[in-house]
Amino acid sequence: DPIKTPDITSICKEAGAGVNNKEKAIRSLKCCPPSLGKTIKDFVFPTDKKVRMRWPAHAGTKEQVDKYRAAIQAMRDLPDDHPHSFVSQAKIHCAYCNGGYTQVESGIGNGDKDIQIHNSWLFFPFHRWYLYFYERILGKLINDPDFALPFWKWDEPAGMPIPEMFVPETIAGKPNPLYDVYRNADHIKDRIVDLDYGGTDRGLPNEKQIESNLCTVYRELVRNGADTLSFFGGKYAAGNDPVLIGDKSIGSVERGSHTAVHRWVGDSKNPNDEDMGNFYSAGYDPAFYIHHSNVDRMWKLWKDLRLSGHVDPTETDWLDASYVFYDENEDLVRVYNRDSVSLNKLKYNYIENSKEMFPWRNSRP
Ligand code: C2O
Repeated sequence: DPIKTPDITSICKEAGAGVNNKEKAIRSLKCCPPSLGKTIKDFVFPTDKKVRMRWPAHAGTKEQVDKYRAAIQAMRDLPDDHPHSFVSQAKIHCAYCNGGYTQVESGIGNGDKDIQIHNSWLFFPFHRWYLYFYERILGKLINDPDFALPFWKWDEPAGMPIPEMFVPETIAGKPNPLYDVYRNADHIKDRIVDLDYGGTDRGLPNEKQIESNLCTVYRELVRNGADTLSFFGGKYAAGNDPVLIGDKSIGSVERGSHTAVHRWVGDSKNPNDEDMGNFYSAGYDPAFYIHHSNVDRMWKLWKDLRLSGHVDPTETDWLDASYVFYDENEDLVRVYNRDSVSLNKLKYNYIENSKEMFPWRNSRP
């Protein structure tokens, strides 16, 4: 049977799985969403007239950057217990990744098994849905039906540094809503991310770091992602343990560049590598969402490569797996992996460089 998320507003417990230093946790481990007494509806596809075009964060226009800042500020201004607040949105990640939910509705008595949407084939679809709602909520907060998220384009040399708009602590005397104090300050200063970061700085000159990053992307989308499960991660269904055993395995992007960027941005001097270095706290850094927007784009690019073997999973245990989110109207909706595969239907896409869509294409490691 597929993994089925319970009603997140009634069946939710304090998180803490994977948080080694709980006593010193900087962020809260109480990650359950607020209950508005709503019943879960099934998801329906958006009927927007325009497609939201996500834009490369290093090359945004002033208008795009201003709108994005205003939307994040509006989110930060909401009271924490509002389902659209900055804190509520951050806690979604914590609850789904650190043991907030159990597989109680799976129908075969798995009440004791936690849900973990990482380390398996749930990774890409879960995060796609998470950002889908996050983007629509931000748009609603600033009354912009075309609002689209930026993406941290770390697969192209110009996009590899952490985007400038995230760096200053203040803007015109006010706090920068894109700034987060719990980041590795040395990395932010040096700027070019290491997609192979494993916890120690390699100190490569920029040119070498860029070449290394391009090789990493090539490796993950082509060499190590040659078939469905090596790209998505291994099977994970009802009754399976949340930890990495049995058929579970981590997909090429999740294991590689995805995790490297988390660790590179997070501060290993903090008790639990907050914010980006731990699942429970990652959502508190606005950089999380632009990083995941590019991770989501990797799924799109992988399919656009049109190599044989680059096909979405077709097993019903994948297609019918489902999650529950608050949507932009504060309705509780159930979404399925099967509805996550088409960007056309979800009414968003990514602005690509038409001349060179795969700048790493010739970077065979
Ligand atoms: Cu849900 Cu990048 O982790």
